[in-house]
Amino acid sequence: MSIAINGATVVAGVTGSPVRHSLSPLIHNAWLAGSGLDGVYVAFSPPPDGFRRLADGFRGGAVRGLNVTLPFKEEALALADRASPAAEQAGAANLLLFESDGRIVADNTDGAGLLAAFRQQAPGFEITARPAVILGAGGAARGAAAALLTAGVGQVRIVNRTRERADTIADTLGAGIEVLEWGELREALIGSGCVINATSLGLDGREPLAVSLEGLQSGGVAMDMVYKPLRTAFLARAEAEGFATVDGLAMLIGQAAPAFTAFFGQEPPADVDVRALALAALGYAT
Ligand code: ATR
Repeated sequence: MSIAINGATVVAGVTGSPVRHSLSPLIHNAWLAGSGLDGVYVAFSPPPDGFRRLADGFRGGAVRGLNVTLPFKEEALALADRASPAAEQAGAANLLLFESDGRIVADNTDGAGLLAAFRQQAPGFEITARPAVILGAGGAARGAAAALLTAGVGQVRIVNRTRERADTIADTLGAGIEVLEWGELREALIGSGCVINATSLGLDGREPLAVSLEGLQSGGVAMDMVYKPLRTAFLARAEAEGFATVDGLAMLIGQAAPAFTAFFGQEPPADVDVRALALAALGYAT
């Protein structure tokens, strides 16, 4: 892939710390190449205390926009002049747009990515038909809970090791959230349609998420936000127990698509298989 940079090339990018191994440049640049749009997508790596300086430096639109990843998502929302309801509900932004008048607009497409991942990998599943269970109560969990409530899920059951963090999400997002103790997963799963791992358990180098899915409705779906490794122990067990599974790479690509549209003004081309490219970059044969 060769990109002919010129005086009109639209620049967008991703920032985080670390950001070196982000798959976003691969995904967005493959879409750019496939669409023939005149744009480029790069990674910006500020020091841990340098995110605000970086973002302020782009005011006015020298860079069209940024995807924001850990640990800057909350700070991204805080520094924005305007925020979408999705970003407000999530309490975090994964997308900043730099307007020509100097303002910064925050959005959050993680929730849209989560829902897109379910639609793609569990196509017959009706996510709103039953309560959903989320494991974890960090930023990822809050974003998922907000997206599910907005999509029309009637009840989201949050199960977290530290109960107070789940209570805080319930206080913020309101009556649709029910909080259960980490030891009450089975109770949480009874009657629910899907379970989402939003903890950091299962990430490469961390201990696996080893939980039983007993109680989950037959026909239910297990989703893992972790995508390194792609096939987590949690998903492998869910599959072995007969449940459909949704992986974190589908969510990553799902959140990238609306960001691409926001940066470059048109939807990503459907005929570029960015999942295959990402799998190859992650070291999986396709
Ligand atoms: P993020 O913002 O990406 O969601 P985070 O705020 O660090 O990241 O949240 C990590 C989540 O993984 C939390 O829900 C955390 O539980 P606590 O709130 O109790 O810390 C969960 N987590 C991490 N290690 C865990 C472990 N060994 N057992 C259970 N939950 C764990």
